[in-house]
Amino acid sequence: MSQQKTAEFDDLLKEDRSFPPPAEFARTAHVHDPAVYAQADRDPEAFWAAFAAELDWSRPWTRVLDWQPPHAQWFVGGQLNASVNCVDRHARGARRNKAAIIWEGEPGDTRTLTYFDLYREVSQFANVLKSLGVRKGDRVALYLPLIPELAIAMLACARIGAVHNVIFGGFSAESLRDRINDAQATLLVTADGGYRRGQIVPLKQVADEALQETPSIRHVVIVQRGDRSIPVHVMEGRDHWYHRLMQEASAKCDPEPMDAEDLLYILYTSGTTGKPKGIMHTTGGYLTGTYATTKLVFDLKDEDVYWCTADIGWVTGHSYVVYGPLANGATVLMYEGAPDWPDKDRFWALVEKYGVTIFYTAPTAIRAFMRWGTEWTARHDLSTLRLIGSVGEPINPEAWVWYYRVIGGERCPVVDTWWQTETGAIMITPLPGITTLRPGSASRPFPGITAEIRNERGETLEGAGGGLLVLTRPWPAMLRGIYGDPDRYVRQYWNRWGTDVYVTGDGAKRDADGNFWLLGRVDDVLNVAGHRIGTMEVESALVDHPSVAEAAVVGRAHEIKGQAIAAFVTLKEGQQPSKACADELKAHVAHKIGAIARPEDILFAADLPKTRSGKIMRRLLRDIAEGKALGDTTTLADPSVVARLKSQYEGQEG
Ligand code: WT7
Repeated sequence: MSQQKTAEFDDLLKEDRSFPPPAEFARTAHVHDPAVYAQADRDPEAFWAAFAAELDWSRPWTRVLDWQPPHAQWFVGGQLNASVNCVDRHARGARRNKAAIIWEGEPGDTRTLTYFDLYREVSQFANVLKSLGVRKGDRVALYLPLIPELAIAMLACARIGAVHNVIFGGFSAESLRDRINDAQATLLVTADGGYRRGQIVPLKQVADEALQETPSIRHVVIVQRGDRSIPVHVMEGRDHWYHRLMQEASAKCDPEPMDAEDLLYILYTSGTTGKPKGIMHTTGGYLTGTYATTKLVFDLKDEDVYWCTADIGWVTGHSYVVYGPLANGATVLMYEGAPDWPDKDRFWALVEKYGVTIFYTAPTAIRAFMRWGTEWTARHDLSTLRLIGSVGEPINPEAWVWYYRVIGGERCPVVDTWWQTETGAIMITPLPGITTLRPGSASRPFPGITAEIRNERGETLEGAGGGLLVLTRPWPAMLRGIYGDPDRYVRQYWNRWGTDVYVTGDGAKRDADGNFWLLGRVDDVLNVAGHRIGTMEVESALVDHPSVAEAAVVGRAHEIKGQAIAAFVTLKEGQQPSKACADELKAHVAHKIGAIARPEDILFAADLPKTRSGKIMRRLLRDIAEGKALGDTTTLADPSVVARLKSQYEGQEG
């Protein structure tokens, strides 16, 4: 734990407000007895199995858990299909005509799909995939805006046992290409474009660039989302329009019975190396974990209108826009665009228009709303809300209290949920009917989850204290591996203190009441506006530029984004630092990776501070980027490098 992190935490601990669950909420909550923790702790397998049993299985499991650390199999021998659980079982019963998806496009166009509509469209698209030669186990890449077809395509893959690989629509052609190639996807579903702040992002054009170097792709399906204003190249024989194929497809498609441990999807996320990891999630455990957490954490009821604002390109969208809520038969609101388009009250207009009851968003958005001020929130009736949530990064107490007061009207519990792409489902969270909330704390592990805090020597801290957050028992929604790289799975997560201890990469403290306070990553992974980015990825993008000799990237504190990217760059002989050069480097990174990775600051340096063994000292660079007093620099090969950099940064900024 760095000194800086400890200091931040000491500030947090001065935060002594607490909010017990509102009596009215507690009275009707799914969980109203704190005994759930002890119960789950005594027999976690029975706890999870009870949730699994609420799903539809075509063949029962014979064993709940087979744990050969670090490899887990859940619900061994059981068979089920995720699309049946998210769609058919509701479409067959009382929810047949219930809205499954209420969607609004950024320009204001709308669509509502009932569970029966969804059943028909998923089955049809499943048949389309089959007709294009997709078979069980094949990988299908999805590069789409936030439109219903994205959820439909995911569920259609699940229906026939194909493995989906969703790539966020903000990623560049290169990022798309690399993910398609790593997964060896045979089919790509994309769109002509998607709306973002009034502009159309030309997804098919970006995809065309990627498709030049993706030999595994045999077919491309294009959804027509735009207004036909952008040209779309359709390659004869390879590219097909979604709506044409759907016209001819039958709405009857028998679901493929999937083994509980069959792969459901791969989702790429950043790690500490330059190469993103394909996180693998399987069918039975993942569905059980997302089903159970959606039900309990959001206290989901049949009457709710549930809105998670995340893009489906991230794990939050997979687990809490698609699989968790649909497995529960919920009504899910999806909105395609930006929160400030056409105005800064768009989210609140949507809450009012659709009577949203559960709202789940990221701290970076909450901080932006706070900055924009209450003139935007005051324009709308937010009284339908009964629970609000936060995810993706630590939420500072100030933003928490603003969220609670202004959005929640001091009546809605706030669930600050900690988890990761790898955990598949929420791990540390309040349970809204029983938890006394502390602003800034994610409270405690979900029932059945065991989290510990360890020091650098691997010793478990009892009671209050801070260190590295680990998970010490397997859980159903845990990742099953990294696609194509089984060794990296072990090395990355289970190699530090024995193969049964999952190392999260986050620092945390626990207070005397047992509340966990998450402090952010302790590795070389950044969290910029809730988006996970590896420092190495940005560094590789920078050194790929012909003028750059060396680059070091750090995250510095940022008021809205949580962290912003600061890059220290040494140029090659003969290259001159300039504002134009800095702008070009920023654009280069955005082009290589995607706009989310665009550095906020570029600092040109004659030298980078290195230890005597040649390691770049990122900690020092972060202190410089944050304008902090510098700590101990005695292990540096040349301490004057740092002093020079510091005075330079203070003069240069930006
Ligand atoms: C990292 C995982 C969880 C889905 C979205 C991000 C940080 C996430 C919280 C929270 C503090 C949080 C952690 C974690 N994080 N939620 N409530 N409080 N930090 O998934 O992209 O895999 O990123 O996000 O640092 O390791 P991800």
